[in-house]
Amino acid sequence: MDTFVINGGRRLFGRVRVNGSKNAALPLMAATLLTDQPTILRDVPNLADINNMRRLLTELGVQNLDTPTTADAIAGETTPSQHTGVITFQAVDESLSHAKYDIVRTMRASISTLGPMLARRGYARISLPGGCAIGERPVDLHLRGLAALGAAITLDGGDIIARSPAGGLKGATVFLGGTFGSTVLGTANVLCAATLAKGTTVIESAACEPEIIDLATMLNAMGAKVHGAGSPRITIEGVSELGSVDHTVMADRIEAGTFMMAAAITNGDITLDNCPMDALMAATYFLEAAGVRFQPVNGLAMSVVPGTSASRAASNGQRTPTLTATTRLTEAKPDNPLRKTIRVTSERLLKPIEVTTQPHPGFPTDLQAQLMALLCLADGNSIITERIFPDRFLHVAELSRMGAKLTRLGPTVIVQGVRRLVGAPVMASDLRASASLILAGMAAEGTTIVNRIYHLDRGYERLEDRLRSLGASIQRVDEKELAACEPAPAAV
Ligand code: EPZ
Repeated sequence: MDTFVINGGRRLFGRVRVNGSKNAALPLMAATLLTDQPTILRDVPNLADINNMRRLLTELGVQNLDTPTTADAIAGETTPSQHTGVITFQAVDESLSHAKYDIVRTMRASISTLGPMLARRGYARISLPGGCAIGERPVDLHLRGLAALGAAITLDGGDIIARSPAGGLKGATVFLGGTFGSTVLGTANVLCAATLAKGTTVIESAACEPEIIDLATMLNAMGAKVHGAGSPRITIEGVSELGSVDHTVMADRIEAGTFMMAAAITNGDITLDNCPMDALMAATYFLEAAGVRFQPVNGLAMSVVPGTSASRAASNGQRTPTLTATTRLTEAKPDNPLRKTIRVTSERLLKPIEVTTQPHPGFPTDLQAQLMALLCLADGNSIITERIFPDRFLHVAELSRMGAKLTRLGPTVIVQGVRRLVGAPVMASDLRASASLILAGMAAEGTTIVNRIYHLDRGYERLEDRLRSLGASIQRVDEKELAACEPAPAAV
C-alpha cells in the first residue's frame, strides 16, 4: 500500500497542464453504450476510476482501445498499449448487460451505465452501489427518473434489474430533485436514457454541473436533441438511434481548483494550462475573497515542439510537459472558452472566509476538504458548511493531528486560523481528503506521511510527479521504503 512522504515549507513555482476531467469522462464513457458505432474520447485521464470503468465496459460488451492520436500514429510514436489519453470505444456484444458487484463496489460511478444500457438494449442489471467514506450515496433519484420513462425496476439480491416496456422507453416530465438538491449522475442517467425514448422528456431540477453540459455536447454530436443542459430544466427530444462521435473531455475543474489551492497554501506562483475558469466561478470568487490572485496569461498556451522529447513525453501519456527548451509558448487557438492559461499567486497571509457547499454553480463539495486545509493557515476564523454530503469531514481529525484548530458542529466546521501546521503521519480516507492532507503537508513544518494514497490515485494522475515538477518535496514510497525514511525533524 503506497504512502506519500512530504517535506513541507517549499513554495511551488512553475507550470502544469490541467488534465481531462474524471467526473466528465466517466458518464461520457458510459454514454458509449448508446450506440454500436465507434466513438472516440480524447484527453481521458489515466486514473484508477477510469480504468475500472474501462473494465466494466469491456464486461458489458464495449471494446475500448488506446488509440494513437493522428499525429502520433503518423509519427509511429505510440503503441496501443500506452495510455495516450485517446480511447476508441465500440459495442461488440450487446447481450452482456450485467454490471457485477466486484467492479461496481470499487466505483459507484458504474451506476451511470444503467440509463444508457436500458435505453439501447431494453434491459440492464447492475449491482446497487454501496455507500462510501463521504456518505450513504443512494440512487433513488436515478430510479425515479428511469421509472418515469416507463422502465420496470426491481431489486434482486443486491442488483437493480431494469426493463424497458415493449415499445421502448417513453418521454415524460420528471422532477429529479432530492433532499440534497439535484443529482449529477442521476441527471446523466436520465438524460442518456431520454435520448432514445419515444417523444419528449423534460428533466426538472436537473444538475447544472459543467460535466452535464459536456455530456449533452457529446450526445448532440452523436445525433441526440438535448436542449438546456447546464440549466435546471433540460428538454430532450428522443431519436431512433445515435451515431459515432469524436469528443474531447472537458478540463478537470476539481483538479484545477486543487492546484490553485496548492499555489496558495505554499504562497507560490504557478501557471495552469487548460484551466476551466468558467466552470470555477464560485471557487475562484471565494478564493479571491481569501486573498488568492488569478491573472490570465495573455492567451498564450504551452505547446510541445513536434518530434522532440517533450512531444514524446506528451504522446506517452505524460501529458504535462514542463516548460523547457523543447516546449514553447504559442498563441492559444481560439478554441473552447472554458480552456484558459491562468497564473495563480496569493497574499502572504490569507483572510478568513465563510463558505457553504452547494450544487453547481455554488461552491463544489469536491473542493471542500482542500479549502479547509488552506483556511487552517488563514488570519482568523473561517466557517465551512457542507450541504451536499454532511458527513464529508473525515479529513478534520487528520488535519487536527497536524495542529489545525477545527471544531465540528454537525454539517459545519469552524476553522480557527493557526500560524503553522506541523508534519505528522496521517491517514487518507477518500479521494478529496487525500488531496487536502497533501496540501497541508506541503505547507507544514517537517515531514508528513500520508498513508493509503490509493484513494488519491482514483482522481489525480501522478499528482506527486506534477507537484514535484513545481518544486514540492514529495515522494511515493511502499512500506519497505517508508521504513527507511528518516522524517525531517519539525522546527522547534
Ligand atoms: C458526483 O457524484 C461526483 N462524482 C462527486 O464527485 C460529487 O461529489 C457529486 O457529484 C456532487 O457534486 C462523479 O461525477 C463521478 P449526486 P454523484 O448524485 O452524482 C444525494 C469526487 O470526489 N442523492 O450529485 O453520485 C447524494 O447522497 C466525487 O470526484 C440522493 O439522495 O452525486 C448527495 O447527498 C465524490 N439520491 C446529493 O444527492 C440519489 O439518487 C448529490 O449527489 C442520488 C443522490
